[in-house]
Amino acid sequence: MPGRNPVEGRHIALGVTGSIAAYKAAAIASALAQEGGLVDVLMTPQATQFVAPLTFEALTHRPVVTDMFRLSNSEISHVVVSHSADVLVVAPATAHTIAKLALGLADDPVSATALSTRAPGLLAPAMETGMWQNPATQAHIQTLRDRGWLVADPVSGHLASGATGEGRMAEPEQVVDIVHQMLGRSGDLAGRHIVVTAGGTREPIDPVRYLSNRSSGKMGHAIAEAARDRGAAVTLIATVALPPLAGMEVVAVERAEEMRDAVLHLLNRADVLVLAAAVADFRPAQLADQKLKRRDGVPELVLSTNVNVLEEAKAQRGAARKPFIVGFAAETENLLGNAREKFAKWGIDLVVANDVALEGSGFGSDLNKVTMLRIGGDMVDLPLLPKIEVAHRLLDEVIALGSKV
Ligand SMILES: Cc1cc2nc3c(=O)[nH]c(=O)nc-3n(C[C@H](O)[C@H](O)[C@H](O)COP(=O)(O)O)c2cc1C
Repeated sequence: MPGRNPVEGRHIALGVTGSIAAYKAAAIASALAQEGGLVDVLMTPQATQFVAPLTFEALTHRPVVTDMFRLSNSEISHVVVSHSADVLVVAPATAHTIAKLALGLADDPVSATALSTRAPGLLAPAMETGMWQNPATQAHIQTLRDRGWLVADPVSGHLASGATGEGRMAEPEQVVDIVHQMLGRSGDLAGRHIVVTAGGTREPIDPVRYLSNRSSGKMGHAIAEAARDRGAAVTLIATVALPPLAGMEVVAVERAEEMRDAVLHLLNRADVLVLAAAVADFRPAQLADQKLKRRDGVPELVLSTNVNVLEEAKAQRGAARKPFIVGFAAETENLLGNAREKFAKWGIDLVVANDVALEGSGFGSDLNKVTMLRIGGDMVDLPLLPKIEVAHRLLDEVIALGSKV
């Protein structure tokens, strides 16, 4: 099916250079190969001091290029790789290799491939703090950014030298996440802007306490990730700080009112609005200025009705029916009956009824059991699936229905 995992069947050239972080490249190669990517590893001579080529060959089931001057079937391996690559990832990227790439030098398989390929590039620098902060390295990084390279910024943390500081390579999952973003650019949602809300809202009682619900934000995150992987420009409006996803705008909010403001602000720009957040129906009528004290006795919590993000978004879009609006209905009983009622009441384009009472489904889980109700009253009942798969099925529906409205 088109537009699913953007890594599947794609050629990824992975350049490994002489850093102690070279072992992390094995995790990157393994993850991409498991996702169905055709991973061609290129190594500098120094990289082979840290990890044996055999490791990469075993993980990718493909030959590893370590010597520019040894032909493979009478072909120049690094040139073959540079032509077939859909993306080039240099991870870890040493200060030395970064300098070579900036200057256009080409005396090892990694730098020669980088100079020759037309594929977009990603660098994951790894080095000790002094090397990273050196103006020479910083100037080279800037040069490469200006030429269109993406950079998985190194983080602060424990370094191989024993010191703690900036220069530690980004985690393999983060590098893989950026590869998804890069390979997804030509997907079936390219050119569309999708706004997704995620997580349970937090309605403050006093400066330290709030009312909330069990929503983990995982479903909304999965939708944002799937949409990005299919080429959409994505804005994620979230109450929770799940591991950040590359290549999307994230708006952090807490209360339903903040979420409503963020949604309405983006409404005119959005092609699709997916309201996956669990917005609290009620909020404390009063917000105490100071922390409520135990010694003052049990407080009486008076609630008032909260803003309705879905209703306001629908009212603001008016008759234009843009953006296409998807709403979620979390139900613990009478799933279809309640969802049908909401579909009729809400008057939006797609309602996703979410069985949060089912064992292993819904809040906090990586799986979800949903039924989608679409205009005309027909429905699509999905089995219990990983949330990322539910997200893709939902986007399939949006694409199919979006072209009809
Ligand atoms: C144990 C050890 C660890 C090293 N780690 C790094 C590193 O993390 N980052 C870096 O830029 N250089 C590191 N170096 C230095 C590089 O290996 C050196 O600059 C080498 O010339 C890089 O070659 P390459 O970029 O062609 O692979 C390390 C050297 C040694 C001996």
